[in-house]
Amino acid sequence: MGFKAFRVEKTGSGFSYSVQEQELGSLPDGEVWIDVRYSSLNYKDALSATGNPGVTRKFPHTPGIDAAGFVVESASPEFKAGEAVLVMGYDLGMNTPGGYGQRIRVPARWVVSMPAGLTPETSMHWGTAGFTAALAVEKLLHEGMKPAGGPVVVTGASGGVGCVAVKLLASLGFEVAAVTGKAEQHDWLRSLGAKEFISREQALEGADRPLGKERWGGAVDTVGGVPLANVVKSLTHSASVAVCGLAVSAEFPISVLPFILRHVNVLGVDSVELPIAHKRQLWNRIGSEWRVDLTTTVQKLSLHDLAAAVPRILKGGMVGRGVVDLSL
Ligand SMILES: NC(=O)c1ccc[n+]([C@@H]2O[C@H](COP(=O)([O-])OP(=O)(O)OC[C@H]3O[C@@H](n4cnc5c(N)ncnc54)[C@H](OP(=O)(O)O)[C@@H]3O)[C@@H](O)[C@H]2O)c1
Repeated sequence: MGFKAFRVEKTGSGFSYSVQEQELGSLPDGEVWIDVRYSSLNYKDALSATGNPGVTRKFPHTPGIDAAGFVVESASPEFKAGEAVLVMGYDLGMNTPGGYGQRIRVPARWVVSMPAGLTPETSMHWGTAGFTAALAVEKLLHEGMKPAGGPVVVTGASGGVGCVAVKLLASLGFEVAAVTGKAEQHDWLRSLGAKEFISREQALEGADRPLGKERWGGAVDTVGGVPLANVVKSLTHSASVAVCGLAVSAEFPISVLPFILRHVNVLGVDSVELPIAHKRQLWNRIGSEWRVDLTTTVQKLSLHDLAAAVPRILKGGMVGRGVVDLSL
């Protein structure tokens, strides 16, 4: 039996994309076979599809760092045929064929049982991007962030991680400020809970100053570079920023002054290699006390739409969450 997959092939001048029929025998060893119904589009999927060597080295390749669907067959007693599950991170979609194929085969230690409040489709409204936003918020709360501590700023707010962070923080009672380059998305971001807007240009101001005015009781950063440095310089005393991404830069141009004068914290966030027990526990929280409706953030994509979506997300032009329906 075959299945459909979005395949990336290396050509003399770059990469070519097509939806192809694949054989089950092409999948690697693993205890759990999954019938993938939904996946999602993350920045990292676009890096994989364009040959970023830190993400994918082997081509032809099927990307997709997220997958949700139903167990077809399991050699592990933990999972039963017919059970709804999701897989995110580890090597899925990097050098292991990923969620842009209708079948995956993975180790049981990568698999998360679908939380009670979610379905394969709604879990992919979150996907890796949304999970990362939740992980960032969880870490900030653990460090003592509270609504009374002042507004929380989110950079790259219209992107996948950013928009879920805005919605989740607002639902938890925080006042949210959004840094975005897309003025036309202010109304949508306001509908998710953002109260204040900062343009990308404003986020770059003051790069030469060692400290800024104390403004933020917390922050979720998805872009790195000067905007991240400026956020840290404007954290209030003892506040924290959760660092998720590098959409602008992997650099962090800052002095030690905010740390030694304001006691602020930079918190790392990695959703990929997070231990599976932590992933399962946080997914359960997302399906229960943190469940929020992300429908208005979602654009549905088919496997055929991915070829055009990959360059769009790399240019920072994606709005919200791209959810891939593998039946389309
Ligand atoms: N640590 C982890 O586990 C983890 C997990 C998931 C993602 N990530 C990382 O987090 C970042 C965001 O991922 P994502 O899936 O949310 O990507 P995304 O949907 O493309 O969102 C990134 C957003 O950053 C902003 N942006 C892009 N280019 C910019 C530029 N040149 N200057 C200023 N802002 C720019 C844009 O928002 P505006 O237009 O609103 O400004 C864009 O929508 C990526 O670097 C990704 O690799 C890390």
